[in-house]
Amino acid sequence: MRWLTVLVLTLITACSQTPTPSLYQQLGGDAGISAITDGLLYEIEHDNRIVHHFADTDIERFRRLLAEQLCEISGGPCTYTGGSMAESHTGFNITLADYDALVGHLIKVMQQQHISISAQNQLLALLAPMYKDISYR
Ligand code: HEM
Repeated sequence: MRWLTVLVLTLITACSQTPTPSLYQQLGGDAGISAITDGLLYEIEHDNRIVHHFADTDIERFRRLLAEQLCEISGGPCTYTGGSMAESHTGFNITLADYDALVGHLIKVMQQQHISISAQNQLLALLAPMYKDISYR
């Protein structure tokens, strides 16, 4: 009889465990990442501290590549097809203040999209090491 109890308890435990969603899923998948990217572009466009960096940028291409990158690094079904962070940002003289401004916008947009704090922090942790390639030296 005891083995039956153990079996039933094991099955109940197994069934109640839902798999942890990937960061990509926590960001809302394709639609969520599109909304985050659009929100970020809106904030950049309205921020006089940093918008000048994008004066000569093909915004549609930038939008597509940023969404691709966010999708790929969060474990989504995408392949980033843009340039390396170092080559893409060389010559723009991006400062720590510029970087902080953009990251601040990203956090605001994720808040607006009701992304959990845990997912926000996971994404920020993946982006943080890129700072050394993006900022000017
Ligand atoms: C978390 C930090 C950042 C990420 C993940 C990121 C990501 C990207 C990506 C994916 C691209 C497209 C690459 C390509 O053209 O092949 C790009 C381009 C660009 N980024 Fe960033 N970026 C970041 C921070 C910044 C900051 C702080 C600025 C300035 C305020 C900036 C300014 C630009 C500009 C101006 C371009 C377009 C370059 C061009 O027109 O060729 N980025 N970035």
